[in-house]
Amino acid sequence: MSVNYSERIPNNVNLAEDRRLQRALENWQPGFLQWWNEMGPENFQSSDVYLRTATSVDAKGWATFGYLKMPDYRWGIFLAAPEPDRRIAFGEHKGEPVWREVPGEHRGVLRRLIVTQGDTEPASVEQQRHLGLTCPSMYDLRNLFQVNVEEGRHLWAMVYLLHAYFGRDGREEADALLQRRSGNADNPRILGAFNERTPDWLSFFMFAHFTDRDGKFQLATLAESGFDPLSRTCRFMLTEEAHHLFVGETGIGRVIARTCQLMKQHDTDCISQYGGIDLAIIQRYINFHYSVSLDLFGSELSTNAANYYGAGLKGRFKETDRDDDHLLTSSAYRIFRNDHGSIVESDQPALVALNENLRDAYIADCERAMVRWNKIIREAGIDSTLTLPHRAFRRAIGEFRGLNVNPAGQIVSAGEWQQRKAEWLPTQQDLDHVASLMKPVTRPGEFAGWISPPPRGINHQPLDYEYVKNLPDQS
Ligand SMILES: [Fe+2]
Ligand SMILES: [Fe+2]
Repeated sequence: MSVNYSERIPNNVNLAEDRRLQRALENWQPGFLQWWNEMGPENFQSSDVYLRTATSVDAKGWATFGYLKMPDYRWGIFLAAPEPDRRIAFGEHKGEPVWREVPGEHRGVLRRLIVTQGDTEPASVEQQRHLGLTCPSMYDLRNLFQVNVEEGRHLWAMVYLLHAYFGRDGREEADALLQRRSGNADNPRILGAFNERTPDWLSFFMFAHFTDRDGKFQLATLAESGFDPLSRTCRFMLTEEAHHLFVGETGIGRVIARTCQLMKQHDTDCISQYGGIDLAIIQRYINFHYSVSLDLFGSELSTNAANYYGAGLKGRFKETDRDDDHLLTSSAYRIFRNDHGSIVESDQPALVALNENLRDAYIADCERAMVRWNKIIREAGIDSTLTLPHRAFRRAIGEFRGLNVNPAGQIVSAGEWQQRKAEWLPTQQDLDHVASLMKPVTRPGEFAGWISPPPRGINHQPLDYEYVKNLPDQS
């Protein structure tokens, strides 16, 4: 499964043997590059960035590292190796061989799933395009760009599926993916979280931690798909996604570490005047990004989710590791519901509760990260903890939409919500303070005062390695 880099579009799918598909993708490529040049990282297109590039899809040693200008990144098509005799693991077709082509009756639904996933990839590049100008270090700058080029590649992954399996509709959808713009009033990206602004690096780390993590869970369910090309595509995307989550979690962890250090040093909780970010502000950012990301899983009860599962299109997280009938037609699942304005737990048919099932797996993952962050605080000798807000807090989709719920999960009056909102969500003052800290630090080995250095560099390189060369003049 090694990658052929001698072609215009690097790939491990024998693209050269399918002239029609190769031509279609070569026709799409200039539009992609134009989009990248317009909407990719502002001001850094001619810098040399120490990037990893996929050279095979094997678990060991799939990446090589080297300096590249981002527009020269070898975006291409990489699928995980096929599993011999793979069978559909769930739903009505359980036990049947997986599909190599799109089943006719599910064409529309599959296309929609692929387009929705595909749309998030360029959206995040657009959201993050100004961040390079205010990077806290060269190490972080390089990580941002690594995430950006890989999100570009994830777009390629979905566009490949559209071109290869969905004919003319697929081609039109692939073009539309280059036309929508994050936050654009007339032609926005499909999902809410991908139209939010990412104004500062704390937001970026939160996004990479909470919102990219939704991506991990969505990709994992698509990796279970009975449509084998989608499964193989998503399996390889997940290996790239792991780095994005690393950037998010460790980024926030380093901000927390620095905050604690300043708190100790100055013996106060309020360290804004010393150029740090208070734990209270970090907590409010968590509340915001977590609640926005929870919405991405959709409504608690969803017949669409049931249909995707029954049809074998989208499984559960770690479907094959689960010990049940993989049909779910006679099982129940406990969810939280809004019962006339109070939050109750209720057993529901498992099939319609699949969105909540996935959200639960996501929440458990987020909780594990909270434990690690709180360990940083504890070990610094600070008596304080960060928490995830209740799942019903500030939701815009599903059961709790529009309900006034505080972070502890209690329903409060509209008046109390308005009055206390500033305790729970980033205020203009918070945003202004964080924005005031966003000054570029680009000398190798130096770090901004609001974030700790990481314990080690990228690819065994030292921390003061020159991760990005040929920087734009930022005077
Ligand atoms: Fe992605
Ligand atoms: Fe990602």
